[in-house]
Amino acid sequence: MAEGAVVVIGGTSGMGREVAAFYAGQGRDVVISGRDAQRAQAVATEIGGRTVGIGLELAEPEEIGTRLRGVDRVQHLVIAAIDRDENTARDYDVKRAIRLATLKLVGYTEVVHVLHDRMGESSSVVMFGGLAKDRPYPGSTTVTTVNGGISTMVHTLAVELAPIRVNAIHPAIVGDSPYWRDKPEAVLEAFRSRTPLGRLVCMRDVVDAVAFLLENPSVTGVNLPVDGGWLLM
Ligand SMILES: NC(=O)c1ccc[n+]([C@@H]2O[C@H](COP(=O)([O-])OP(=O)(O)OC[C@H]3O[C@@H](n4cnc5c(N)ncnc54)[C@H](OP(=O)(O)O)[C@@H]3O)[C@@H](O)[C@H]2O)c1
Repeated sequence: MAEGAVVVIGGTSGMGREVAAFYAGQGRDVVISGRDAQRAQAVATEIGGRTVGIGLELAEPEEIGTRLRGVDRVQHLVIAAIDRDENTARDYDVKRAIRLATLKLVGYTEVVHVLHDRMGESSSVVMFGGLAKDRPYPGSTTVTTVNGGISTMVHTLAVELAPIRVNAIHPAIVGDSPYWRDKPEAVLEAFRSRTPLGRLVCMRDVVDAVAFLLENPSVTGVNLPVDGGWLLM
């Protein structure tokens, strides 16, 4: 039996929100976070069920413990938050780079640090990386670096926190996510034509894969690409 809530950090939008809605639909206690507590609570009300919203800024990791004080027992933890930068080595915005590196590498880890002793033996963590780690594009310097960091972070956390399981998911471009869905059709088609399946990943596929990683008792330390075969071409 599940003991504790499903906590989704970065659950007010995109794939985090879809994961939260999936578990809320199963009657589970769900906690979602965004940067602003009021907005997070408004989204939690939209999701419905037993969902509550909290405010938490991952780029200020010293505050994370305080922000998570109200969270009780945790069955599953999903960390999906992102505040993207577009950074190149030639035109480098140090502040943006520090912010994203802190958010994903220190902020994600601090959330796990704060919540791990509220988790049980059957609990698990899924962190979001992304295939920019393998398929860089101009401007992805920080995004590529931090998503690469996620792929090694899950290895150490899976060892340190066992029997709590820790895995990462690395989607390719998710065509119906808020970040991509309004991009020009020509841009999306260029990606679509480079996948064996001839279709972009959709948020439902990602939710399905997250649930697999969260629930399967034999899977830990795994970096799962969800990419329609993109890496093969
Ligand atoms: N979309 C894709 O195609 C794609 C592809 C590969 C990988 N990914 C990865 O998948 C994950 C989810 O992406 P998405 O596109 O679904 O996300 P999204 O729609 O952009 O949502 C981002 C979430 O992060 C929260 N957030 C933003 N900045 C934050 C900060 N500084 N501190 C705490 N929370 C913050 C946002 O909350 P508020 O706005 O309410 O503050 C929101 O809930 C990300 O880690 C991303 O790198 C996405």
